[in-house]
Amino acid sequence: MKRILVAPSILAADFADMRNEVKRIDRAGADRVHIDVMDGHFVNNITFGPALISSIRSATDLPFETHLMIERPDLYIKQFSDAGSDILIVHVEADHTMARTLRMIKACRKRAGIALNPNTPVSAARKYMKDIDMLLMMSVYPGFGGQKFIGSVLKKIKEVRRIDGSRLTIGVDGGVNVQTAEQAIRAGANEMIAGTTVFKARSYGRAISELRCPHLLSKL
Ligand code: DX5
Ligand code: ZN
Repeated sequence: MKRILVAPSILAADFADMRNEVKRIDRAGADRVHIDVMDGHFVNNITFGPALISSIRSATDLPFETHLMIERPDLYIKQFSDAGSDILIVHVEADHTMARTLRMIKACRKRAGIALNPNTPVSAARKYMKDIDMLLMMSVYPGFGGQKFIGSVLKKIKEVRRIDGSRLTIGVDGGVNVQTAEQAIRAGANEMIAGTTVFKARSYGRAISELRCPHLLSKL
């Protein structure tokens, strides 16, 4: 069993204090910083772009995983890479040619991830699995934080593990709290992405360590 990674989503952080928020989750034991980029087209919300990423890059050495919820990810790979992303995650449902976008990410020497919306079958990512480092399984419809976990993702996570074995990082994103993290880990996910659960907690450190569900490790 791989170590369970926790990637707090800064969508739920204090936007006016972003550099310190990133420092706080670093000190609290986060493994990665999850950065939700939304363009108002692919999803009905607009968040931030490469300039924000550049401006928080020097606040931490943690890897930045940039979740691109944008209609044309292929047009922005280089910008998000240059801004300081380490992992670039693109949606299969967006308007681009996946094989080409993955080549662009590799050409920037970054790690690649593919995201699947709750109603998109695992088969949509099947042929790219060997070319990527992570699969991001959406457990809410993307666009907003604070939504309820959609349980049907669990079956899909199991399916990916059956196909892939233990190579891929499988992230679960949306509505992740201690209870749903436990379900996702049992299904085979090994990265917990959480906005509300971390940033609305009294103690970021405690929220992060609970999301790893340490009590499960001996049982898996
Ligand atoms: C949803 C984003 C998620 C979201 C998670 O569109 O991709 O990363 O911020 O937020 P919570 O943990 O609040 O559901
Ligand atoms: Zn996300």
